[in-house]
Amino acid sequence: MGVEVKVEGLTKSFGSQNIWRDVSLTLPAGEVNALLGPSGTGKSVFLKTLIGLLHPEQGSVVIDGTDITECSAKELYEIRKLFGVLFQDGALFGSMTLFDNIAFPLREHTKKKEDEIRRIVLEKMELVGLAGAEGKLPGEISGGMRKRAGLARALVLNPEIILCDEPDSGLDPVRTAYISQLLIDINAEIDATILIVTHNINIARTIPDNIGMLFRKELVMFGPREQLLTSEQPVVKQFLAGDRFGPIGMSEEKDEAIAAQEAAMQAAGISGGGTQDDFSEIIPQVQPNPGVQVRKAAIRHRANVLQMLPSLPPNAQAAIRASIAEEDARAAESPESVATLVALANTDFSTTAGIDHALAQADTQVMDRPTDVVDRPTEVYATADDAQTQPIDTSAIENAVKKSDGQGE
Ligand SMILES: Nc1ncnc2c1ncn2[C@@H]1O[C@H](COP(=O)(O)OP(=O)(O)OP(=O)(O)O)[C@@H](O)[C@H]1O
Ligand SMILES: [Mg+2]
Repeated sequence: MGVEVKVEGLTKSFGSQNIWRDVSLTLPAGEVNALLGPSGTGKSVFLKTLIGLLHPEQGSVVIDGTDITECSAKELYEIRKLFGVLFQDGALFGSMTLFDNIAFPLREHTKKKEDEIRRIVLEKMELVGLAGAEGKLPGEISGGMRKRAGLARALVLNPEIILCDEPDSGLDPVRTAYISQLLIDINAEIDATILIVTHNINIARTIPDNIGMLFRKELVMFGPREQLLTSEQPVVKQFLAGDRFGPIGMSEEKDEAIAAQEAAMQAAGISGGGTQDDFSEIIPQVQPNPGVQVRKAAIRHRANVLQMLPSLPPNAQAAIRASIAEEDARAAESPESVATLVALANTDFSTTAGIDHALAQADTQVMDRPTDVVDRPTEVYATADDAQTQPIDTSAIENAVKKSDGQGE
């Protein structure tokens, strides 16, 4: 079972600049979580605080029974082995090949032999679509490839907690979908607790079990994804829609005069650039691929959500009920291909024994298609050498130019 991360009353400042204060949330064991928030609200600082790279002034971060804000350096070193972290900038060593970068945690933290290290590194590189790029240096590949190399490195130790700082930034929409699917599959396979920091609303809508949002130095909300997606809070609605009209400004808070001006523009039908999507229409959550285990986290999450349901706002309750009904209906439609949904639909959530039984079953339940037929993206990229051996055919262009000059054949 994954590891719970319990954050209580956390406050972080740099000198006199307070970044956020009194942040409390629990990343439930093995569940997938997302953290949203405008740029500069301290999401990356939050991730770094969770692994003890930055030290908060107040509060606690309890992982596996240890408060990492006050444990010894030795204890912190042990706790850090539970983590796989994808930093926002990839944080690759510039002078090392991708292979050595990705092998680094294995060489640093394990006594594995080189041939086993090689097997693991190549497997993770294939998972993130980087097969064949082992010998490249970080400076020789695209930003999206660096991001995926960082993710491969975060995964080599089969971590129990995975922190991903904007896994999608610099990635095209299709690669983003593959990486999101990969995170769900990994969650199903190793039951890791995952926290994804993202600005990608599509990820927020379809991947996490829970979503939180930081704004104006505070955690605005943290709870089941339906709670944030159906929220009526102006800041949440503005952020999801990506609209410039609303409480979030380019840098700081908006004053009343600007707010009034914006309201007038909106009333006059002028667009703030945001999408008109209805986020309270909950999109089904992405399911593990065939060949992958049932997500135990999904079973635990539903048990948690059903328990907290009465305490949630009415529209969140309605959305969660609708999600559950839809998941169960989909399970009934295609029982052979959506094992997690089937497990959810067949679980008796009214008793602890029912939930335990489902979790035990999920341990062995695998979708019917073997893993090796699951399609994974593989990177095909041109090297500088290819470009030299395959000169661009310019005759068509030259002909067109001649024609336009009246000299064409
Ligand atoms: N080591 C540091 N020393 C001083 N200030 C820092 C440090 N790291 C971050 N900050 C400040 O903390 C604030 C939050 O930064 P952070 O990188 O966490 O934002 P973010 O929410 O991740 O933004 P983005 O979405 O743009 O990545 C910023 O004002 C930043 O300048
Ligand atoms: Mg950041």
